[in-house]
Amino acid sequence: MCGIIGYVGHRPAAEILINGLRRLEYRGYDSAGIALIDNGRLNILKNAGKVNLLAERMRASWNAELLNRATLGIAHTRWATHGPPTEVNAHPHTDQTGRLALVHNGIIENYASLRRQLEGRGHKFLSQTDTEVLAHLIGEFYKGDLVDAVCAALKHVEGTYGIACVSADLPGAMVVARKGSPLLIGVGENETIVASDVSAIISHTRQVIYLDDNDVALVTAAGAEIRDINNISVSRAVASVDWEESAAEKGGFAHFMLKEIFEQPDALQNTMRGRLDEEMGSAFLAGLQFTPREMAGIRRVVILACGTSMHAGMVGRYFFEELADLPTEVEQAAEFRYRNPLIGGHDLVIAISQSGETADTLAAVREAIQKGALVVSLCNVVGSTIARETGRGVYLHAGPEIGVASTKAFTSQLLVLLMMALKFGRSRRLSREEGLEICREVRSVPGLVRETLKQNDAIAALAARYAKARDFFYIGRGLLYPVALEGALKLKEISYIHAEGYHAAELKHGPIALLDENVPVLALACDVPGKDKTFSNIQECRARQAPVLSVVTDGDPSLPEMLTDIIRVPPSSPRLTPITVVVALQLFAYHVARIRGCPIDQPKNLAKSVTVE
Ligand code: AGP
Ligand code: GLU
Repeated sequence: MCGIIGYVGHRPAAEILINGLRRLEYRGYDSAGIALIDNGRLNILKNAGKVNLLAERMRASWNAELLNRATLGIAHTRWATHGPPTEVNAHPHTDQTGRLALVHNGIIENYASLRRQLEGRGHKFLSQTDTEVLAHLIGEFYKGDLVDAVCAALKHVEGTYGIACVSADLPGAMVVARKGSPLLIGVGENETIVASDVSAIISHTRQVIYLDDNDVALVTAAGAEIRDINNISVSRAVASVDWEESAAEKGGFAHFMLKEIFEQPDALQNTMRGRLDEEMGSAFLAGLQFTPREMAGIRRVVILACGTSMHAGMVGRYFFEELADLPTEVEQAAEFRYRNPLIGGHDLVIAISQSGETADTLAAVREAIQKGALVVSLCNVVGSTIARETGRGVYLHAGPEIGVASTKAFTSQLLVLLMMALKFGRSRRLSREEGLEICREVRSVPGLVRETLKQNDAIAALAARYAKARDFFYIGRGLLYPVALEGALKLKEISYIHAEGYHAAELKHGPIALLDENVPVLALACDVPGKDKTFSNIQECRARQAPVLSVVTDGDPSLPEMLTDIIRVPPSSPRLTPITVVVALQLFAYHVARIRGCPIDQPKNLAKSVTVE
């Protein structure tokens, strides 16, 4: 969940580490810390709160000589799991001797018993973290070879980790390792940068090595020697990253989230680029190669995901059932993982994850692979764990998503799901003409989103009227039901308004009891099947004095007069309305949060990638 960065090379490490932390801060941001090795000494600074505070403290506490001289260091931005986000609990943590420092992303599940054993042998702990236990364990095994010590310690560890470790006794090198948490090594000119996320590396080099689970590496300015946990050498390919550096910057927008909302026409264009088969009315999805036998054997689709990605899956279900005649289920990944699911060779499992690192989704993927299902993934982050473990899949190509609230990844997920359903549909029931019609629809999406974005000012004005609400209901039907869930999730994540998404028909089965003049309802009443029934549900809400804000199709002649507060989206095929409507809801949530003065890109308690179960 957190961000890790480490540097070894010829330039001053401190500045590079702090800038790297700024890039990583979106992953976790409750506290931060840095360690520099200089002249056989370990220097550590830690701080509760944001990276900027750490940067200020660093300049105030460390002299310029140290800052300019040290060329080896590690740093961390934390998303607390064990112990509150205090200075003491912030990383790096040291071992008993105080000469070895460790940053860690993940959870050491057996930390309590390890801690008891270590305490029994005289170790004293300063923090409540699981990480400090690992630092002590490595320290205990350290007899002059840090790789040996890390390998030995990790053999006693249950749980997940991405770690970087330095020692005052080891100038010019650090040791890193991973299991279940991402870690990559950027190989530069006479310098090497390790990080949990490519965005902290791309300003220095495009050449990266993605570590696999159980890899341990000795990292020096010359590169990395990679071993497995038994200290036996393994080789890992160097990949080239094509994300632009500017993609990880705000580019004039007040927040990453707003930038990413406005990037959607381009992101969607990139998502579909080269993937439409305008000849055969199908989709080229190179990562989804199946043998004819596998293809013919598929009886059911099971979509596994969490949060926003799960909402995308819920829309995808309509696509697969309608276009490909495939019964489709969508399941919260953690739930799937823990209920011994009935699944096997006739099931196509689609794991959806923007980050490709979500622990719940990863565990579900492993379970599905174990049970012999055909498993593919739909990820945004290239080289991420889920993408690699599934082997087959489709990348979103939406570009890096930095805002914690997922926006452009969601719309790209919808577009890929539509193209996947088209591909399957063409091999099962759709005619070429029907396929070509869907290709035309897909092509129209960036333009429709561009049109929707023109509503930004109108939506901002409406947001001002609703920004004081304490509670909100979002309702929708059919394809717009998952969008109601997603819209409510966006609002609660970034504005802290309590928002519930409901099927429009479900409101009267209980939640309607909560409606009154202080509880607004945001109704998705666009021109899709079931619209008239949603109009009736709006009447029911109005009859209970609830203020109603509606999203409708521009130019719809059937709009009832009672609709006063209206957001308009351009007319489109019903299949595409989830995309236009969600863009409007993203803008609405954004403006409400902005008016309320919330920290939009880094909401409290959240983290961009949730690598714990
Ligand atoms: C989205 O706004 C959320 N922050 C969150 O629900 C997210 O979608 C979820 O954690 C899944 O992440 P993933 O797509 O990276 O797997
Ligand atoms: N479990 C560790 C802690 O609570 C690491 C959390 C993280 O990934 O930031 O400090």
